[in-house]
Amino acid sequence: MFSCAPRGPGDAGVYVHFPYCTRKCPYCDFNSHAAAFDDRAYADAVIQEIEARGPAHVPLGPAGSVYFGGGTPSLWDPAEIGRVLSAIRAGIGLRDDAEVTLEANPGTVDEGRFERFVESGVNRFSVGAQSFRDQELVTLGRIHGANAARRAVRAAKATGARVSLDLIYGLPGQSRDAALQSVEDAIALEPSHISAYTLTIEPGTALARAEERGRFRPTEDDRMAEHIQDVSERLGRAGFLRYEISSYAPPGQEALHNTLYWFGGPYLGVGAGAHSFLPLSRRLAGAERRESLRNPEAYIADAARGAFTPESIEHLTQADLIADRLWTAMRTRFGLDLEALAEETEDAIAPESMIACLSEALDRLVERGLIVRLGSRGGQIAPTPMGFLYNDEVGRTLLLAARDRLAPLLAARSNHHHGPAPA
Ligand SMILES: C[S@@+](CC[C@H](N)C(=O)[O-])C[C@H]1O[C@@H](n2cnc3c(N)ncnc32)[C@H](O)[C@@H]1O
Ligand code: SF4
Repeated sequence: MFSCAPRGPGDAGVYVHFPYCTRKCPYCDFNSHAAAFDDRAYADAVIQEIEARGPAHVPLGPAGSVYFGGGTPSLWDPAEIGRVLSAIRAGIGLRDDAEVTLEANPGTVDEGRFERFVESGVNRFSVGAQSFRDQELVTLGRIHGANAARRAVRAAKATGARVSLDLIYGLPGQSRDAALQSVEDAIALEPSHISAYTLTIEPGTALARAEERGRFRPTEDDRMAEHIQDVSERLGRAGFLRYEISSYAPPGQEALHNTLYWFGGPYLGVGAGAHSFLPLSRRLAGAERRESLRNPEAYIADAARGAFTPESIEHLTQADLIADRLWTAMRTRFGLDLEALAEETEDAIAPESMIACLSEALDRLVERGLIVRLGSRGGQIAPTPMGFLYNDEVGRTLLLAARDRLAPLLAARSNHHHGPAPA
């Protein structure tokens, strides 16, 4: 349980957002648009953003991962993906062993296209299979059937790249057996990683509107909990460990890029609506969270002017960062070592104070069977399978404890260092 998380938070990553899709799926609230696009014009805008914002990223060292997400980046001309990677290499730096992932919708790819992506520098595909049952794919409004999903996974694997696949389960009326059938098909395809999501009804989507009109009934919580248990148990038997709430992989095959998000690693997000997380220093001092302009047309026009207007910027204090880290690390089976976290603050808080501040909340979570505490001072914490199920409760409890106990301590200390504020 307390094996180390794959690579440390020191590694930097780059996220590239491609905001276009063939058709908008009814459940999706990503920044994705079923609109015509110009491959080259969009790549030019992204490259300009890398050139303008990349240098601030350089002190963090060469990127250990790049993630092309969307939207449907598999619609993008592979040659443009190659140009974007060259710009990252030149403007930021890219490790030779970097993980370079591209999300691929099965309705947009064939063998030749996968090969061209690999020639451009991609070495990992995340295939949006969602289900291996045609009827479910119709319910999900997908542009492909089950056979196309199987073909896509096989073709992606044939390139020699690592392949992950996405599944969505917990569809209305789905039986336990039906959910497991897609899992069986996924296992039979021998991917290196599986992301299995429960269907969530996101506000503002076509599915949410259908629910309001009584045309769609979401799966009840109890039934969903059964599905989650079935799916994680079956994947576990096949060697896919549940290392994050929705992520399963044999040890060593975890998604490096995603672990940056969970362990406070820095990443530069480029492209319409991409999120960046840039720490003030390598240590846990403070950080900026920024979203690039969301609307694709406005983003391209902005880039052409050399302006990179953010959609939003948020400044995070040390206390915010600690609270965030508690929340996100407890989404993973690796959990968190509170003493190591305290050390990252470079003496802002002593390891024993960090543990003392959170102890009451931690004990309550242990009593409820949601986490385990190990280590001589009880500073190593990780969620139990039940803790995964009630992750929101674990996160909220720790967040409140951090706000009420840790934040005042950090604020007092920073006043002590900087003296009282001028009257
Ligand atoms: C950006 S999409 C992946 C790539 C590509 N656009 C596709 O759909 O094939 C990321 C993944 O999030 C999952 N997802 C998106 N919205 C969801 C929702 N409302 N509920 C559950 N899973 C969702 C899907 O599995 C999807 O493949
Ligand atoms: S799920 Fe994927 S293909 Fe469907 S609209 Fe969202 S980003 Fe596009």
